[in-house]
Amino acid sequence: MRKPVQRGFRKLLRRHLVGIIIIAVSIIATAGFLYWYTSTTEAKIATIKKHSAAQSAAADVQIKVIKAQKAAELKAKQEAAAKAAADQAQIADSSTATSVNSSDCNTATTHNNPASIDVVVNKKHCIQPVTYIPGDLVSIGSGYVLSAKAAPSFNEMMAAASAAGISLSVTSSYRSYSDQVSTYAYWVNTSGKAGADTYSARPGYSEHQTGLAFDISSNGCVLSCFGSSTAYTWMQANAATYGFIQRYYAGSESITGYDAEEWHYRYVGTTVAKDMEAKSIKTLEQYWGISGGNYY
Ligand code: DAL
Ligand code: ZN
Repeated sequence: MRKPVQRGFRKLLRRHLVGIIIIAVSIIATAGFLYWYTSTTEAKIATIKKHSAAQSAAADVQIKVIKAQKAAELKAKQEAAAKAAADQAQIADSSTATSVNSSDCNTATTHNNPASIDVVVNKKHCIQPVTYIPGDLVSIGSGYVLSAKAAPSFNEMMAAASAAGISLSVTSSYRSYSDQVSTYAYWVNTSGKAGADTYSARPGYSEHQTGLAFDISSNGCVLSCFGSSTAYTWMQANAATYGFIQRYYAGSESITGYDAEEWHYRYVGTTVAKDMEAKSIKTLEQYWGISGGNYY
């Protein structure tokens, strides 16, 4: 004999069986869905985390590269600025060096007129005024100019050299004060001030500024190379005929103040040039009795 409560329960179960099954299935489906959703979402989050970790590591590397590049650029800029400042200081120094002694650099009462062919310009005798510009500059071709006092003789000499099969080319002629500022600064930058002073005149001290001097080369043989060329031999034999002298000879450095320059010639006129040759006098300082050597 079953109890009446049990009978009632079974009756209830039978009556609501479908609903109960639906609820049970729903609960199982929901649980399954929740399980699936949670596990796939976690997987997605894990993937995203992994991905973003890789991305941020890559970004870190990129940032490091960019930082290193910026640091290198900054360093290069600082070094360039320091070099420019040093160059400027050296140039300023080489420019002011001229004005330090310009008031007492030409105490000679003779041979001090830059417009005269007997002028002596050396480390003790600057051009006065130091910014002197010859009033008679004329072209000698190829963009070069000389004083009209020297140009005709120069042209004659070049024609004679050419007729003798000697090739001569001008590499420098008249140089203004400001040309000499940059020329000297360039050499100071190359050799230092003491080095430059042995072969390059400070601004206001170069006889190129008189328009009476020029430098030559032969078939691309420039500067010291010129001294061993046949063109140099020709110049030694013929320059005086046209009024030119080699201004800086080897052995006369303590008198002229400069190293030998076989390529640098100075117009002094035929009388003086031939007389110097006849007397074997190698320097204008000795010929005219003017002091030379180093700067004051
Ligand atoms: N090279 C010579 C000395 C000058 O600069 O005038
Ligand atoms: Zn020269």
